[in-house]
Order: sequence, then structure tokens, then C-alpha cells
Amino acid sequence: MRAVVCNELGPVEDLVVEERPSPPLGPDDVRLEVSACGVNYVEGLMVQGRYQVKIPAPFTPGMEVVGRVVERGAQVVDRQVGQRLFVDVGIGGYVDELVVPAARTVPLPDELTDGQGATFMQSYLTGWFALRERIDAHHGQTMLVLGAGSGVGLAAVDLGDALGLRVMAAASSEEKRQLARHRGATWVIDSSTEDVKARARELGGGGVDIVYDPVGGELGEACLRALGDEGTHLVIGFVAGIPQLPANQVLLRNRRVVGVEWGGWAGRHPERNRALVAEVLDLVRNGRIHPVEPHPYPLADAGRALRDLAERRVAGKVALVP
Ligand SMILES: NC(=O)c1ccc[n+]([C@@H]2O[C@H](COP(=O)([O-])OP(=O)(O)OC[C@H]3O[C@@H](n4cnc5c(N)ncnc54)[C@H](OP(=O)(O)O)[C@@H]3O)[C@@H](O)[C@H]2O)c1
Repeated sequence: MRAVVCNELGPVEDLVVEERPSPPLGPDDVRLEVSACGVNYVEGLMVQGRYQVKIPAPFTPGMEVVGRVVERGAQVVDRQVGQRLFVDVGIGGYVDELVVPAARTVPLPDELTDGQGATFMQSYLTGWFALRERIDAHHGQTMLVLGAGSGVGLAAVDLGDALGLRVMAAASSEEKRQLARHRGATWVIDSSTEDVKARARELGGGGVDIVYDPVGGELGEACLRALGDEGTHLVIGFVAGIPQLPANQVLLRNRRVVGVEWGGWAGRHPERNRALVAEVLDLVRNGRIHPVEPHPYPLADAGRALRDLAERRVAGKVALVP
């Protein structure tokens, strides 16, 4: 089998592809022939040693994998050879063959391609958790989404539209804004030229109900001020740095700041997370959400894929296709 390996924490360009012996199959495992591995912004941080949890090298990055069952362990009865499955592996996903406990796999609806299946779970589960578990987002509310042309931002636009929110999508390129429009954004804002806070306030008639913020930094700080009365700032991520959200601006207009950490919560509440996964898969089956088809890169180009994400060149998502 082939695996992308980070032998030393450092630049993403130093990732290499290595040949490895096939892993042994336990009685509760399935062996997957991998057809797509999702690529996420955080995996670049892990490789560089800049992620909040330092993973000791050598390791193989990659969380999200789709593959077909080529072999199953003696005890596995509910997964079939040939069946297509998704699995969230945490790390170790940039490979062409994978052995995992069958219980951790999720069958995918036919509506999704392999690429979509490998790139939507993180983004959409984060969004669904944020909008349904952390707050009760509902029909008619306005939501400003930052970084709305890729990853978790684009998923939030799509989910917001499914929930009947009126979404303002802020993104830096026309290609990204176009993707957001296609996923139901009511308005788009050019974050490279416009004053996002001022424009969002104007579009929201004085303020917005929700700010969905995977970007942080100065933009995140400014956009707290776009919130109207009792509006909620959802803290999702910090690609532009950790924002210093001013407490006086939270007090004014009775605003709320709500933290969102889907991964940790999912680990602590596996049953409740399974219910969220089932709800999101139902949204796919019912045609209410439309995960983007990712840009395909070969395994050997994992470093280039991570660099393109880090430098904001990707509209939508990226998948490695072994
Ligand atoms: N809270 C959670 O549970 C959770 C779950 C998953 C991910 N996250 C976090 O969400 C964040 C976004 O992840 P993602 O997968 O959506 O990433 P992504 O696909 O790379 O998208 C990030 C977007 O942020 C914008 N951006 C603005 N300033 C940037 C900068 N300095 N560097 C890079 N991008 C910048 C870019 O859009 P423009 O070019 O349009 O500005 C880019 O398209 C990450 O911090 C990740 O850790 C959080």
C-alpha cells in the first residue's frame, strides 16, 4: 500500500509517499480500497507542528476517507464486500488502503460521489452542530458567513439555506462567491474590496442575527459589530489569527459569543453525534444540501493541495484521489 508520510514536522512540501506492507485485518475490521481522501486546512497545521495538539512524527495526515470494502473480518456481518463506506480516522487518511473497525464506518447515500463523500462530513457536521446544537438557528434569520467560498464556510451557507436563513456570503474571489451563490446565498460580499461589517449591517437592516466565523483575526473582530440586538457570533476557527473580541461590544445590544468545537463534542457524545450524522445524511438524500465536488489531486501532490488551501487558492474543497 501507499501512504503520504510526514517524517518531520515542517513545510507541507516535505511530505513523501512511501510503500508500506498492507496492515493486518482483525476480526471486527474491514479493509478498504480508498477512492478519495478529504483534505482539510487543519491537516496543514498538523504537518507544520502548528496545530493545538502536536502529533509526533512520523505520521500520515488525513481525517476523511471514502473507500470500498475489499475484505471483512470474521465477525463483521453488517458490511459487505464492494460496499462504499466513509470513515473519519482522525489521522492516517492519506493512503490508498485502510483497515478500520467496521463499527466506525458510515455507508454513504448514492446521491454523493466518492469525492463529495470524502470532503463534506467535517464541514457539514461542524455547521449542523453549530446551528442546531449550539444555537437554534431558524427560518427568516440573517446570517453572515465569513470564508464562505470553501470548507466550513461554504457548508454553512448551504445549511443556512436549507434552514431557511437569509445568508450573506463573504469571500475574496468571484469563483468563491459564485459557489456560495449556487448554494443559496441571498447576498454575496467581496471581502477583498468591501467593508464586510458595514455591508452586512446595511443588508441586515441595521444588524445581522448570526455571524458564522471560521476566519477570526481582524475580520472576525470587526464583524462582531455587525450583529444586531441579541445577535450571536459563532466562533468556528482562526485561519487569520485568534480574534480579540471586545467585551463592551458583546454587552452592547445583548449580543452572545458562542464557541463551537464539534470534534471534541462528537468524541464525548458519540450517540448524539450519530444522530447529527443521520440528520445530515437525510438532508443529502432529500436534496436539501449540495456538497461541492472537490478538486482532485494525486496522493503524491498532498503537499501542493495543503499549500493551495493555506494560500486561499481553493474555491470549494480538495480531495486526494489515490
Ligand atoms: N470549530 C470546529 O469544530 C471546526 C471544525 C472544522 C474546521 N474548523 C476550523 O475552521 C477553519 C476553516 O477551515 P476550512 O477547512 O474551512 O478551511 P478552508 O477550506 O481553507 O477555508 C478557509 C477560508 O478562510 C478564508 N481566509 C481568510 N483569511 C485567511 C488566511 N489568512 N489564511 C487562510 N484562509 C483565510 C479564505 O477565504 P477567502 O479567501 O474568501 O477569505 C479560505 O477560503 C480552520 O481554522 C479549521 O480549524 C473548526
